[in-house]
Amino acid sequence: MDNLRIIGGNQLEGTIRISGAKNAVLPLMIASLLSKEKLILKNVPTLQDVNTLQNILEHHGVICTNEQLEKTLSISASHITNLVAHYMLVSQMRASFWVIGPLLARCGSASVSLPGGCSIGIRPVDFIIAGLEKLGAEISMASGYVIATVKNRLRGNRIKLPKTSVGATHTIMMAATLAKGETVIENAAREPEIVDVANCLKSMGACIEGAGTNKIYIQGVDSLHGTTHYVMPDRIEAGTYAMAVAMTGGNVLLEGIHKELLSVPITILEESGLEVDYTENGIRVRCNACTLSPCNITTAPFPDFPTDLQAQLTSMMTQASGISSITESIFENRFTHVGELCRLGAKISTSGQRCVLIKGKTKLTGAPVMATDLRASVSLVLAGLVAQGTTTISRVYHLDRGFENLEDKLSQCGAMIERFSCSRVY
Ligand code: UD1
Repeated sequence: MDNLRIIGGNQLEGTIRISGAKNAVLPLMIASLLSKEKLILKNVPTLQDVNTLQNILEHHGVICTNEQLEKTLSISASHITNLVAHYMLVSQMRASFWVIGPLLARCGSASVSLPGGCSIGIRPVDFIIAGLEKLGAEISMASGYVIATVKNRLRGNRIKLPKTSVGATHTIMMAATLAKGETVIENAAREPEIVDVANCLKSMGACIEGAGTNKIYIQGVDSLHGTTHYVMPDRIEAGTYAMAVAMTGGNVLLEGIHKELLSVPITILEESGLEVDYTENGIRVRCNACTLSPCNITTAPFPDFPTDLQAQLTSMMTQASGISSITESIFENRFTHVGELCRLGAKISTSGQRCVLIKGKTKLTGAPVMATDLRASVSLVLAGLVAQGTTTISRVYHLDRGFENLEDKLSQCGAMIERFSCSRVY
C-alpha cells in the first residue's frame, strides 16, 4: 500500500499546472452514454476515479481509448450492451450512480445499485430518484438496486430540487436532454462543473439555457451527436495549492486556473494574508511574512466557500494567529481530518456537530497520520509541509482518487515529499 513521507519546512517556489477537474470529467464521461457517436475529452486527469468510471462504462459496453496527446479520452457508447451498474463498482465511487439518468433517457431502462453511505455522510440519492420520476420514469427498489424504466420516452417537467444538489442537477439535466418537451430545473446547482457539462451537452446538440444560474431550461431533442470537449481546470486542486503556499510561504504560479472559478476562496485567502496576482497564464500566489489572519467561514454551494476546500482551510488556519471558526453546512460528517491534525499538534475543538474552532498559530510536528477521505487526505499533506520533522501519511489511495501527480507537483516546487510502499507505517 502506498504512503507519503513529507519533511516539512520548505517554502514553495515555481509553477504548478492545474489539472482537468475531477468533478467535471466524471459527469462528462457519463454524458457519453447519451449518444451513439464518439465523445472525445481532452485534458483528462490521470486519477483513480477516472479509472473506476472507465471500468463502469466498459461494463455497459462502452469503448474507452486513452491517448497521451493532450490527455485525451475517446469514449464510444455506440452499443450499450448492459443496463445494470453493479454494487461492487458503484460503491467504489458515488458519482457513478449518475449513469442512471443517461441510460434511462437513451435506452428506456436502467438498474443501478444504491451507492450506500460514505465516510463524509449518508449522501442519499432521493432528489435524483424524485427528479427522474417527475420526468415520467417508474422507479422501484429491489435488493439494493434502483430499477428505473420509462414507456416510450421521458417527458419534460418542472423539477424543484428541495436542496441544491450537484449530482441531482447533473443527472436530471443529462436525462432531460433526450426527454420530450421542456424541463425546468429550479434551485439547480450553480457550480462551474455544471456549466462545463452543459457546454459539452450543447456541443453534442442539446438545447440548454441557464446553466450556472439556479434555473436551468432544457428543451429535449431526439438524439445527440459526438463532439470534442476540453475539460475545465480543477478549482479545488488550485485552491488547495494556494493554501499550501499560504502555509509554507513562497511564490507559485497556479497555471491554467482563472479568477471566476475561485473568487470567494481566493478572497478569503487574501483577507488572511495571501498575496494574489491574476495573470494571463493563471493565478500567482505569494506569501512572505506568513502572518496569516484567522477566518470565520461556513461552507455553502457555489459561489460560496466549497465544502471540498473545508479540510484544507482547517489545516491552513492552524497557522493563522488567533481563533478561526469553520462551519460545514453541506455534509454531516466532514471533520475526520481534525483528529489526525491534532496528532500533529493542531489545537482544534468542536463546537456542536458541524463547527470547529481552530486556535493558532500552532507549531506542528511530524507524526504518522492516516488519510480518511479525499479532501481530508490533502489537508494532512498541507499540514505535513509545515510540520517540523517527518510526517507519514498512510492510505493515500484516497488522495489518488482526486489529485493528479500531487507529490511531483509539490516536489518540483521545493517540497520534500515522496511516495513509498509499505504495509505498515510506525
Ligand atoms: C458533489 C461533488 C463533491 C462535493 C459536493 C458538494 C462530484 C463528483 N462530487 O457531490 O465533491 O463535495 O458536490 O459540493 O461532483 N443530497 C440529498 N439527496 C440527494 C442528493 C444530495 O439529500 O439526492 C444532499 C447531500 O447529502 C448533501 C447535499 O445534498 O448534503 C449536497 O450534495 P450534492 O451536491 O448532491 O453532492 P454530490 O453531487 O454527491
